[in-house]
Amino acid sequence: MNENVRPETMERITTPELAEAFIAEQVDAIRAQVKDQKVLLALSGGVDSSVVAALLIKAIGQQLVCVHVNHGFLRKGEPEQVIQVFRNEMNANLIYVDAVDRFLDKVAGVTDPEQKRHIIGEEFIKVFDEESSKLEGIHFLAQGTIYPDILESERGIKAHHNVGGLPQEMEMELVEPVKLLFKDEVRVVGKALGLPDNMVFRQPFPGPGLAVRCPGAITRDRLEAVRESDAILREEFAKNGLEGKVWQYFTVVPDFKSTGIKNEERSFEWPVIIRAVNTKDAMTATVEDVPFSLLQHITDRITHEVKGVNRVLFDLTPKPTATIEYE
Ligand code: XMP
Repeated sequence: MNENVRPETMERITTPELAEAFIAEQVDAIRAQVKDQKVLLALSGGVDSSVVAALLIKAIGQQLVCVHVNHGFLRKGEPEQVIQVFRNEMNANLIYVDAVDRFLDKVAGVTDPEQKRHIIGEEFIKVFDEESSKLEGIHFLAQGTIYPDILESERGIKAHHNVGGLPQEMEMELVEPVKLLFKDEVRVVGKALGLPDNMVFRQPFPGPGLAVRCPGAITRDRLEAVRESDAILREEFAKNGLEGKVWQYFTVVPDFKSTGIKNEERSFEWPVIIRAVNTKDAMTATVEDVPFSLLQHITDRITHEVKGVNRVLFDLTPKPTATIEYE
């Protein structure tokens, strides 16, 4: 039997009971595979790696070593939440690596989108490699591979292009407890493991994170404007019943300035672009019809609360012709 093929008899995990049964089965399987050895996991805080972390903590507790690399392109509050949930609440063995300066120095002045992605991916592997070489006696590497990753790699669509896609030459045996699950099943399992809703049901987020929403050469101040405006958008969508309804929404701060007025003086600052889209498979997407009064309120908050911003724009473009992200 090919262990990368989901058996036809495998029931779709849709209920807490089915999730509990899956968890019990995986806990036994992980213990049988790992025995008393240590396991390393790159924990981004995304759905898949978080669920794998929670499963492994349940199965082997302190034998799991989680490494959370803050590359500087995470959303507001994300690194703090990883520390709170995994170190403080689940008592995980968590190494937090603040690599923000390192990544920002590497991408400084880089304008080409593909080069930016490449640099971020490569630097991530370097940082993770450095951290793992400080640890002794680690034989296993856990990964949040899910079934669509296997199907897409087989069809040659995606070869672990994400940040966190680690090279096979790390010479560790893989532990991939959710590799036969679809995304919706991973979420049901995550909920049964007690992970918070905003971690389990979060919207898709690209591996290179906010870097692709700060088009062109990234600067610290413009990246901060992306992070702060994104936080306001998420807060307002949550308050107004759009969280969980709209598939993906975020802000982008392009690298140009325009004239405005602030405190009765001329201002020359960036615009913030709001993007809110719906899709089934991300291959095509339509634009959410966000209530105009809410857009006005968000505009008011962003222009008053986000440093360096004097204008807010709404992206009306479906995919195609635009892609969902800007880079
Ligand atoms: P596009 O921009 O191609 O995005 O319409 C489609 C979906 O994929 C996400 N996306 C990424 N996800 N790594 C990821 O994990 C990436 O490099 C990446 N680029 C785009 C995007 O957020 C959208 O949901």
